[in-house]
Amino acid sequence: MVTDAAQIDAARILVASNRGPVSYTLTEDGGLDARRGGGGVVSGLSAIGSDEQSLWVCAALGEGDREAVRRGVGEPGVRMLDIDPAVHADAYNGIANSVLWFLHHLLYQTPLEPAFDQEFRRQWDAYRAYNRAFADALAESAAEGAAVLIQDYHLALAPGMLRERRPDLRIGHFSHTPWAPPDYFRLLPDDIAEELLRGMLGADRLGFLTQRWADAFTACATQVVGGTGSTVTGVYGLGADAGFLRERAHRPDVGERLAELREAVGPDRRTIVRVDRTELSKNIVRGLLAYRTLLATRPEWRERVVHIALAYPSRQDLAVYREYTAEVSRLAAEINEEYGTPGWTPVLIHVKDDFARSLAAYRMADVALVNPIRDGMNLVAKEVPVVSDEGCALVLSREAGAYAELGDHAITVNPYDVTATADALHRALAMPPAERAERTKHLAAAATALPPRRWFLDQLDALRD
Ligand code: F6P
Repeated sequence: MVTDAAQIDAARILVASNRGPVSYTLTEDGGLDARRGGGGVVSGLSAIGSDEQSLWVCAALGEGDREAVRRGVGEPGVRMLDIDPAVHADAYNGIANSVLWFLHHLLYQTPLEPAFDQEFRRQWDAYRAYNRAFADALAESAAEGAAVLIQDYHLALAPGMLRERRPDLRIGHFSHTPWAPPDYFRLLPDDIAEELLRGMLGADRLGFLTQRWADAFTACATQVVGGTGSTVTGVYGLGADAGFLRERAHRPDVGERLAELREAVGPDRRTIVRVDRTELSKNIVRGLLAYRTLLATRPEWRERVVHIALAYPSRQDLAVYREYTAEVSRLAAEINEEYGTPGWTPVLIHVKDDFARSLAAYRMADVALVNPIRDGMNLVAKEVPVVSDEGCALVLSREAGAYAELGDHAITVNPYDVTATADALHRALAMPPAERAERTKHLAAAATALPPRRWFLDQLDALRD
């Protein structure tokens, strides 16, 4: 499946994404450490036959990545683009994460924001330049008629730019986020809304995680540019990788974390588990407020339950993310102060990213809390039932993409309704073991219906047909 440097100008399958499958850090002695990532696209690409030439184009993100590009260090089949750091920062932090992410997840506090001013226009130019760098690299490296799978909101303009450069290519774009409803999408200045949609519509096929997000895109395209033209939309609900997860969750490091967590929870207590990157859309603060309401209104749970909240830092270049992260820790401490006793800590919070600990928490969860404001899919909701040792009740936001597939067997909530979420936690904690086991079986089956390899290959097949 890999392509070496000499063959880079003839790749038959190309993937493009901001974050690539590998990242480099500079070591103290000036060396470079490579770290490989996981995820659906990585597993998908590994399923391609070895006679296929593939290339993954991604951005160099930190100093380590940039140094790797300068030294010519790289993985076979991966091309990192060393885009000017200021351009990358404006495109990634300024536009992708502060505008497009906010739009698709409905995160603006509209009395004050957004305010699309000259600074926005300057950053939009950087977003164009960043997308152009990808379109140029893809155009340069793709074989005649190759299939190109462009990922996510960072690269919304790239399909159209690539189409201009290489009309022979089969171009797909996949959105890992929700898509904004038309009234909200049209907060964007009219010309920008149009440019964004025309960029996406440069693709032959657009993929979404649920029908709801695909319909929202179509509604935006219909209102702003009169329709989707010859571009076809499709729905591919990325599922959990059961084989990998079950094997990984029973390795010794997970066993150690499990013992540590059990010790910290204490004997004969139930657990409510949540695992998230600390993103504004994950709704961790309202989750904690719901847990506080549960302890306040149902005192029978005091001393009998622990909320394990694994909240790993994300996008800390943005002040609003840093403030949100701090608020999560502050509120957890406040609940512990208010309700904790010498032998019981109501909230166990961990902020250091640790995959083994996440899997240990999945295994011991009695209840999983997944209450995003809005989420493309939410893989945690799919992973917990697969890994859980004794079955786990899922409290799930109806605004997560996963709701479409798991809603029937979860306890579903309106993520803004703290009181209802507290009630749902109570119901989940009190669920009889047989019902919990039965529901977990259905959840795990639905969660693994479209494993990552199939998810990727289905998109590739559709693009090539
Ligand atoms: O979860 C949605 C998503 O768009 C993923 O596809 C992507 O990996 C991630 O968000 C981007 O996050 P980051 O800014 O950390 O790269």
